[in-house]
Amino acid sequence: MSAKSDRLLSTLKLAPVVPVLVIDDVATAVPLARALVAGGLKAIEITLRTPAALEAIRAVANEVEGAVAGAGTILNAAQFEAAVEAGSKFIVSPGTTQELIDVANDHDVPLLPGAATASEVMGLREEGYEVMKFFPAEQAGGAAYLKSLSSPLAGTLFCPTGGISLSNARDYLTLPNVVCVGGSWVAPKELVTKGDWAGITKLAAEAFTLKG
Ligand code: 3PG
Repeated sequence: MSAKSDRLLSTLKLAPVVPVLVIDDVATAVPLARALVAGGLKAIEITLRTPAALEAIRAVANEVEGAVAGAGTILNAAQFEAAVEAGSKFIVSPGTTQELIDVANDHDVPLLPGAATASEVMGLREEGYEVMKFFPAEQAGGAAYLKSLSSPLAGTLFCPTGGISLSNARDYLTLPNVVCVGGSWVAPKELVTKGDWAGITKLAAEAFTLKG
């Protein structure tokens, strides 16, 4: 395994769940990340879907001890560069383009590229990728679908994301080709808006116990 894949895998193995965050108000980023880390979820994906995202990544990277800030929903090279500049330690994309593969090759920060079919996985393997995001997990066929890829595409590991919650996370985490799952359920909008950080820590701690 390449040093870059190895680094990505170590980050993804920090906890069974990677929170996927959509930050509307940058002021919530640090307390939210602290609440997640307090519950055991250290690798945190902040999606570039809001104007606050890059500033949120920078704040979490600089101010939250124990957090490993990553960027999600990266769609092109410019976003990749901006996310790295903001301090992202890993980059996540919902799918894969040649532009993303090329920019990722120019950086030490690892890319977790999205794939949803055997052909997409094979294409990424040809580019040297061993760890991928399976997206959108539930909608693309769920745990049964991903399990069926484990034998023909042995050696590839996945972080499934999309439609995953406490109730179905274990279906994925028990598969041999799953390293962790991603999901937004640990940071519901109502709790973030209320500033209920204790509530978020409780959800994170509950998610962390999925490990065993
Ligand atoms: C996403 O990119 O939105 C993630 O896959 C999170 O999906 P979820 O909101 O269904 O957990």
